[in-house]
Amino acid sequence: MSRELDILRMRELETTLEYHNRRYYVDNSPEISDIEFDRLLRELQDLEAQYPEQADPNSPTKRVGSDLTTEFRSVEHRFPMMSLANTYSSEELGEWIDRIIKEIGEVEFVVELKFDGTAISLTYENGALARAVTRGDGKRGDDVTNNVRTIGTVPLKLQGNNYPALFEIRGEIIMPYASFNRLNAEREAAGESLLANPRNAAAGTLKLQSSQQVAQRGLDCTLYQIAGDDLPYDNHWQNLEAARSWGFKISNHTAICRSRGEIEAFIAHWDTERKALPYATDGIVIKVNRYSDQRSLGSTAKSPRWAVAYKFQAEKALTKLISVDYQVGRTGAVTPVANLEPVQLAGTIVKRASIHNADQIAALDIRIGDMVYVEKGGEIIPKITGVDVEARGADSKPLEYITHCPECGSPLVRVEGEAKHFCPNSGECKPQIIGRIEHFVKRKAMDIEGLGGETIELLWENGLIRDISDIYYLDGHQLATLPRLGEKSAANILEGVRRSKDVPFERLLFALGIRYVGETTAKYLAEHFRTLDAIATATLSELAEAEEVGAKIAESIIEYFAAEENKHIIERLREAGLQLEIKDKVRSSNALEGKSVVVSGKFPGLSRDDMKALVEQHGGRNLAAVSANVDFIVAGDNMGPAKRQKAEKLGITILTLEEFISIISDAPQMEVVQEEENPAKSNNEPIQGTLF
Ligand code: IVH
Repeated sequence: MSRELDILRMRELETTLEYHNRRYYVDNSPEISDIEFDRLLRELQDLEAQYPEQADPNSPTKRVGSDLTTEFRSVEHRFPMMSLANTYSSEELGEWIDRIIKEIGEVEFVVELKFDGTAISLTYENGALARAVTRGDGKRGDDVTNNVRTIGTVPLKLQGNNYPALFEIRGEIIMPYASFNRLNAEREAAGESLLANPRNAAAGTLKLQSSQQVAQRGLDCTLYQIAGDDLPYDNHWQNLEAARSWGFKISNHTAICRSRGEIEAFIAHWDTERKALPYATDGIVIKVNRYSDQRSLGSTAKSPRWAVAYKFQAEKALTKLISVDYQVGRTGAVTPVANLEPVQLAGTIVKRASIHNADQIAALDIRIGDMVYVEKGGEIIPKITGVDVEARGADSKPLEYITHCPECGSPLVRVEGEAKHFCPNSGECKPQIIGRIEHFVKRKAMDIEGLGGETIELLWENGLIRDISDIYYLDGHQLATLPRLGEKSAANILEGVRRSKDVPFERLLFALGIRYVGETTAKYLAEHFRTLDAIATATLSELAEAEEVGAKIAESIIEYFAAEENKHIIERLREAGLQLEIKDKVRSSNALEGKSVVVSGKFPGLSRDDMKALVEQHGGRNLAAVSANVDFIVAGDNMGPAKRQKAEKLGITILTLEEFISIISDAPQMEVVQEEENPAKSNNEPIQGTLF
């Protein structure tokens, strides 16, 4: 085929794929099979590899994302993104409605669901998505366009022809329950912390560095406000209907109301019906429909006077308390957990609830067998918020809090001023030891793959680990003979352990599990003191000089380093060769100064990370994807043919490992550099315009 025909075919595929994408995601009625869709997508991907200069930035292939690291530029909003005044009281809402009717006379209200996600502003230029920006502080937000492009319900190109040449449409990025539950199940299996709720999950996902990962998380986007100079209609409702016809996902659960009664009926309906929706909502938004009315009502500094949010009460359920378990965490803190008769609450079945501490039990007078109220706030684990005392039997007795550790039998202690009971037997109490080791190996700490909760327990039961330092003295043969392990897993564990020796000091400091020393505090401490020994020998007031370190944290650090067992652990970690001080980035040469490099394929004896580290050590910058910005590619075994083709098309030099090594080793050596700060500057001039 000729080049011209290929390019025509690209345009055709873009349109076809975007059409089927809309049928699938927005209209929920696909016309072709997934296989057929993938076939067309692959055809387009191949053509794009062949003619990279012809690839459209809004091509449907962008929906799969890339592993390219995106830095989020901060961008000024053309019109500030305001928030909404809100109320939980129907009385207050009634007063608001009455006031508006009094001021405007005959008024139309549009009522909508309040979606519980994270706000987004999309700009379209000539029918193509130009920019997607988060709310940020309302004046400036982060440019997350590449991530938003992967969301199936966001049109990359519009259909129809009556859309304005330039407009902004705003809405909510949400994570439906199905995606949220799947994500948390995956995280649980990987031993990672669970995300608290779909709102946090959506907001967090939008800020992920890899749009490929974003694409896999199943986000959704629904739009509820449009702004621009040449909108087709003079009111909110009709413009949203127009936006629907351009391919946007606009909720159907809306209505036009003309009175307080109609609005109240809508609210009453959705207060129950929303529980059956596949995504989270937390209220109803009531907006004045006509723009002329909106303008005459105006805005305060923070929110428009023509709209208000009525928020639903947190959901509650009544169920029976069967028993109370006591869990011992890695710090020895004891947390009572209620076992409940299963009950439906906010889209999930609840069987357990947290009760926090003994004071809470006493304050609510919670007893076994009671009918208790459980509520879901923003958090995953629901909590008990009350007791139906009337329903209590005559033989019910107050619940007595345990006096001894349910795990090791030690008498519990309660420190003055602390709400929780503690098991003081930190050296021998199993969940504390296992918990500390689990914390040590987790991803944000030492990131030792292959050592999950079950394996740690297995090693502990077989006497192979008693504290975190034992990890570095494991014996491969011994590991391989354990039940369920075998040679391969044993080798994996040892490899993970070996690699963790290079984990930077601040993460090791966090991994130690010193009470109150979280990730951020560890970073500040590491930067301030630079070595573990300096922290270990610092006085209370010296410690408190570090950023974010107060008396409580300082005392906890002193206590940690005073304990004999911890001194012993640290000596063994030192012997094993862990990073006990901050390492300045050492530059070996300037051979790659100013050069952007893509490392691709496999290299015998060198991991991908090793290769990337080499690039940095010699002054180069690693890029993930082949583009015109790349200076050269280091190609290992099985570099993808598409990548190679693209590189050749763009005329990028492809180096073998040998050629790469000779470049870096021929250059003059050595220099120490400080880490640079990232100058995230906006180059986006605000466009004049008025909104409302
Ligand atoms: S209208 C001027 N409509 O709620 C305010 N907002 O508390 C424009 N939200 O930041 C917002 N559903 O993120 C509007 N149907 C809806 C909404 C909605 C959810 C969010 C939005 C906004 C926040 C305000």
